[in-house]
Amino acid sequence: MRKNDPLAAFWMPFTANRAYKAHPRQLASAKDMHYWDVTGNRILDGTSGLWCSNAGHCRAPIVEAISKTAASMDFGPTFQLGHPLAFELASRVADLMPDGLDRIFFTNSGSESVDTALKIALAVQRSRGQSTRTRLIGRERGYHGTGFGGISVGGIVNNRRWWQGLPGVDHLPHTHDLARNAFSKAFPAYGAELADDLERIVALHGAETIAAVIVEPMAGSTGVLIPPVGYLQRLRDICTKHGIVLIFDEVITAFGRVGGATASGTWGMTPDIITMAKGLTNAAVPMGAVAVHRSIHDDIVNKAADGIELFHGYTYSGHPVACAAGLATLDLYAQEGLFNKADELGAYWADAAHSLRGKPHIIDIRTIGLVAGIELEPRPGAPTKRATELFHACFDNGLLVRATGDIIALSPPLILDKSHIDEMFGKIGELLTAIA
Ligand SMILES: Cc1ncc(COP(=O)(O)O)c(C=O)c1O
Repeated sequence: MRKNDPLAAFWMPFTANRAYKAHPRQLASAKDMHYWDVTGNRILDGTSGLWCSNAGHCRAPIVEAISKTAASMDFGPTFQLGHPLAFELASRVADLMPDGLDRIFFTNSGSESVDTALKIALAVQRSRGQSTRTRLIGRERGYHGTGFGGISVGGIVNNRRWWQGLPGVDHLPHTHDLARNAFSKAFPAYGAELADDLERIVALHGAETIAAVIVEPMAGSTGVLIPPVGYLQRLRDICTKHGIVLIFDEVITAFGRVGGATASGTWGMTPDIITMAKGLTNAAVPMGAVAVHRSIHDDIVNKAADGIELFHGYTYSGHPVACAAGLATLDLYAQEGLFNKADELGAYWADAAHSLRGKPHIIDIRTIGLVAGIELEPRPGAPTKRATELFHACFDNGLLVRATGDIIALSPPLILDKSHIDEMFGKIGELLTAIA
């Protein structure tokens, strides 16, 4: 049975399984800026896999670190034990975080990082004698992974509608505003006041019921929503005023995507907790991390009774092979100056993206760092179809883009050069005309 239908068993995540299995597109190998599919076609990676292989694919130092560690210690528990690579990686990650966020909890994915951050926020409120603070605030259109915590604070309807999330969650409005901000480069001018909605939520529920606010500093998965000028600072100020823990979900923005190690650091922000994953190991081994302000860590750990202070963790928290990949990745980022790439190439990138303005069906182009979102007018009665068609046409013509709703998102490996940028936007322009 399986021999006759080799694609049947794998229930693919976030995939139109029936459509895919009728027309499969399978990747076979990867190197630097490219994938190759099973038929030998070369595909330029416009998305760093899934916003994660920031240093490009199959980089030798990472591959070597992984194989060396897998051969010397394949696994070592970090519950009541430890191993040097985990401590070393935690210190290295802490060094990259905004001031004060120097306590690092390891996870295996972005979803786990989000759940960990939410649990730590609830735990610290309790440690601070604020145990009525149990409410979590997310944002419409937010994506925080697929755990129950993440879908509860997330704001993408299809990820939520079948599952009752956590109780006691509220949402800020999203910041997408085509009428005022279409075709903005970098931070859109209008919308800082949307952060003030947090004051409305505080007035509605009472500050003493609210534990934490979580937002992506730049929302990626919903289709590249860049924060309006001043918006994040307003959120920071309102959280500080009301004793609310502010979590920035940097699963895609950390490790160079918008320049610097984090969007927070680059944009002059200091949240209380930062979640990460993806670029931490260049995605060569699954791993996530949560950077926590030292005062939060200390309030939980130092006020606890003897014994385990936080009843939370994963078998693979600080897995040695992932740590080895993480250390080699951070070395590579530093040696190759990859956190500067968004600055070095950002203007060229933005100009190339915005040069598509006027092509058929484009209703917005937005760019920041080495990220671009190209929003297409939905086909009447068939939302998402146009972007899906463009995604397929790009793939068949040797370019990997990401389609989300009717938005094409681009987030290439940071090792790209101008010729890759020309190729990406050149192909998208041609194919948009072709499928129009
Ligand atoms: C901001 C954000 N948070 C969380 C996640 C979930 O990460 P994972 O798929 O590793 O669980 C993602 C994934 O794209 C993300 O973009």
